[in-house]
Amino acid sequence: MEKLRPGRNERLARVKETCACPRLLTVSTSSMGTLPKQVKIVEVGPRDGLQNEKNIVPTAVKIKLIDMLSEAGLPVIEATSFVSPKWVPQMADHTEVLKGIQKFPGINYPVLTPNFKGFEAAVAAGAKEVAIFGAASELFTRKNVNCSIEESFQRFDVILKAARAAGIAVRGYVSCVLGCPYEGKISPAKVVEVTKKLYSMGCYEISLGDTIGVGTPGVMKDMLSAVMHEVPLAALAVHCHDTYGQALANTLMALQMGVSVVDSSVAGLGGCPYAQGASGNLATEDLIYMLAGLGIHTGVNLQKLLEAGNFICQALNRKSSSKVAQATCKL
Ligand code: HMG
Ligand code: MG
Repeated sequence: MEKLRPGRNERLARVKETCACPRLLTVSTSSMGTLPKQVKIVEVGPRDGLQNEKNIVPTAVKIKLIDMLSEAGLPVIEATSFVSPKWVPQMADHTEVLKGIQKFPGINYPVLTPNFKGFEAAVAAGAKEVAIFGAASELFTRKNVNCSIEESFQRFDVILKAARAAGIAVRGYVSCVLGCPYEGKISPAKVVEVTKKLYSMGCYEISLGDTIGVGTPGVMKDMLSAVMHEVPLAALAVHCHDTYGQALANTLMALQMGVSVVDSSVAGLGGCPYAQGASGNLATEDLIYMLAGLGIHTGVNLQKLLEAGNFICQALNRKSSSKVAQATCKL
């Protein structure tokens, strides 16, 4: 059996080959629908990946992780959250993290802001882009940000007006688009309503989150078909958690439908502390490997990304959830 398994050098060579020369391992995509030529990856590991960690991760480790992700060429790295430290203690060092990271030219470092207090603190710490986070579930919104969906829009409106005046870009999230830990099934119509609202209020991009990773490709297709009718495709992103092992399949479905912005997390870390049963995000390594195989350009260096994943997994004393990392990094 052991002989059938390629050696470590062979596996590393395969990764290098995939990254350096995707055409060698690409497949014919003619039967796969229209795939985007280029995909923008929004790396959420330093925020979504770490926010649920029980033990406080040292600020220096967070900063080094973000710097390594920058080195790997990720175009957007969600750095931290300006949320209440009582609600999410892991993100309490947001200001030190944002001020401490190297800001690479051409890379965006957005941060989460739930209200105007968070927005002001983020701007004071040097944020050039923020993300507001809503949901298509009333109960989840209550658990996550302690208000109704309607009240969350009022908070967002204040942020969006201040952001416009300050020249700060605002990204939006809609959580629970394929299911809610408290309400169960969520109708595509509700997702459309919240997404449309965030877009009309001024979010330049809206990330549709399968917060607890319950979706399957058919449900993703139905939800996206409904949203695409009302909000331009170019303004949509997907954010898939991998609780049921469906994140890569759901993301591929979104790509086939023309979505070209995908959120993912190094080493597959992640989970929302206020979404019961939520687990890791789609691993960035696995996403890059698939996209390289499809001949889709991302500009990310997989080898450097694997090193960043290795670094954070060692710091957390955890095995990577990325299949690509497992396949290539085992000795
Ligand atoms: P609240 O308790 O209702 O807030 O929390 P409040 O306005 O009543 O204020 C209570 C106290 O919090 C006050 O302090 C405020 O100053 C303080 P006190 O007078 O008691 O000393 N406070 C703040 N402190 C620091 N920063 C702030 C802030 N705001 C108020 N920004 C609140 C409301 C929104 C603040 C709270 O519910 C919260 O922070 N929630 C964040 C929850 C969170 O971070 N969830 C994870 C991110 S979402 C996610 O992971 C999903 C996503 O990945 C997509 C997907 O997967 O679907 C994005
Ligand atoms: Mg998430």
